[in-house]
Amino acid sequence: MKKLLALLAVGAMLLGLVGCSSTEKETPESTSEATTETTGAGETVKVGVSIYKFDDNFMTLYREEIESYFASLDDGNTYEVTIQDGKNDQAEQTNQIDNFIQQGYDVLIINLVQSTSAATVIDKCADADIPCVFINREPEEADMDSYDGQDYEGKFTYVGADARQSGKFQGELIADLEDKGDLNGDGVLQYVMVVGDPENVDAKYRTEFSISQYGEVSGNDVEKLDEQRGDWDQAKGQEIVANALVKYGDKIEAVFCNNDAMALGAAQAIEAAGRTVGKDIYLVGVDALDDAKDLVKEGKMTGTVLNDHVGQSHTAVDAAVKAVSGAKLDKYYWVDYVKVTQANVEEFLD
Ligand code: GAL
Repeated sequence: MKKLLALLAVGAMLLGLVGCSSTEKETPESTSEATTETTGAGETVKVGVSIYKFDDNFMTLYREEIESYFASLDDGNTYEVTIQDGKNDQAEQTNQIDNFIQQGYDVLIINLVQSTSAATVIDKCADADIPCVFINREPEEADMDSYDGQDYEGKFTYVGADARQSGKFQGELIADLEDKGDLNGDGVLQYVMVVGDPENVDAKYRTEFSISQYGEVSGNDVEKLDEQRGDWDQAKGQEIVANALVKYGDKIEAVFCNNDAMALGAAQAIEAAGRTVGKDIYLVGVDALDDAKDLVKEGKMTGTVLNDHVGQSHTAVDAAVKAVSGAKLDKYYWVDYVKVTQANVEEFLD
């Protein structure tokens, strides 16, 4: 973790950014205000943030970190940060963005409800000349390229982690096991896939690359027994895996979940079915939520992949601050995923 924090500090320095201090109020649509101490422009900067929905474990950690990191900045500016709940409704979120623009916000940080809405949001921000930092849900490449060579180029960016990498890491977590996950030794991994939200690139890539990487590293074949959509949700993960266990029983050797919330549900279903992770089934997730790390430590999950909400939120805030200062942004800022297993989980525990 220390290593990660050091990397983050370097990342922030590379972005060439600085900070300020703050107090905050927590409301469903929370606003934090930061006041100035040291040198700096001494400006009041209005930051509008919209999260695709508040009721998401990982994005809750992410948004809390955005708030506390803004509050910790000490660059002489005052940051007024308003964070709104997109309620998983693109129309609602678009409305919030329209309001931020009308109210003259200085910069937006947007976790889109639907990545396909990026083009509309970019156009709105470009018309108003307001910088925009997309987070967590990667827009299409064509949308990110849409202002190349124009004034708005360098005023919007995507900060995220490459979902292909998280998928590959999941595949490796299983392929690197002594038995390569192939409990029955037939040279084929029989698996169940629990998908987040098929519209989302994180879900698409994790679903695809976990399996392709498994095949590449292990040399085994794969057989998909079941693939269901769990919307990143623990209760849905539990239901899907409970049903799969009834239907396929001992045939299931591995359960891949696109995120930890669903893996936590899967772990409950596995335990309820009298199966034991590490002995007669394997289970992997992504995010490294605290509860998932505890399960990895106890051996009740085979592994997870750290989705670094601290690194991503700090990079997003640093990019927003940089854009407000008038400096050009890169088109993308990437933060690495990290594999978490029983062997190294201690490094990730607080
Ligand atoms: C993913 C994360 C999921 C969920 C999703 C929302 O990166 O792994 O848990 O938060 O983002 O878009």
